[in-house]
Amino acid sequence: MLLEAKGLNVRYGRITAVKDLDITVAEGQIVTVLGANGAGKSSLLKALIGLVKPASGHIHFNGQDITHCSPSERVKAGLALVPEGRRILISLTVEENLLLGAYHRHDKAAVAREIDALYQRFPNLGERRYAKAACLSGGEQQMLAIGRALVGAPRLMMLDEPSLGLSPLFISRLFDLLSDLNRNGLTVLLVEQNTGMALRVAHACHVLELGREITHGTPQQLKADKKLQEAYLGA
Ligand SMILES: Nc1ncnc2c1ncn2[C@@H]1O[C@H](COP(=O)(O)OP(=O)(O)OP(=O)(O)O)[C@@H](O)[C@H]1O
Ligand SMILES: [Mg+2]
Repeated sequence: MLLEAKGLNVRYGRITAVKDLDITVAEGQIVTVLGANGAGKSSLLKALIGLVKPASGHIHFNGQDITHCSPSERVKAGLALVPEGRRILISLTVEENLLLGAYHRHDKAAVAREIDALYQRFPNLGERRYAKAACLSGGEQQMLAIGRALVGAPRLMMLDEPSLGLSPLFISRLFDLLSDLNRNGLTVLLVEQNTGMALRVAHACHVLELGREITHGTPQQLKADKKLQEAYLGA
């Protein structure tokens, strides 16, 4: 397993945001975590990247116990998070934002090559490389946030509701991109409320409700579960 979290609990005071969660992500997979507002999805990703300290539980990544590692140690180990709401730095240029994602890498020539490849892939970003990120559209900002994670050369990219606020056209481009990156070897952990798109690209899926996992399985298994479809997946 590339990522394995066991018995994870995240608490904020008396609120339990994630309760006794086990989750594994095998190398090469796209795993999705679905759930309504407040289900604990972001808390899970924050615990995995080290932004919140779990009350209990263990996290292993690539054979290493990272439970007590700092976020930057986790990034160095190969984890990346594209946070909810993009969080790019709008007063910096597109290129400066991308370079931030590569801060821990020493091979600057390789970074420059990868940034060039990214501009090929997203001409909108390439054309605006020296412009302030503030002038990008919402969809372009999301692509920049993903690009910033990619230039960190992660082994596992985690994304927190990347489709939020995007037009249908950008959403389908986004999911095509994730599938493409995955076919090229990137492992993905995807938090979404866009159930239809997430189930289309994922190999495995977990459904959370109020911090607890209510079910997990393959997209086929979840789509076949009529009760689940009606209650949680908005069918
Ligand atoms: N910093 C915090 N302090 C206190 N409570 C928090 C904090 N962050 C989250 N919570 C609470 O933890 C629970 C889970 O929140 P979380 O943000 O993980 O859910 P989510 O599934 O990402 O929701 P959304 O889909 O709205 O982004 C919620 O009840 C939320 O109010
Ligand atoms: Mg969230």
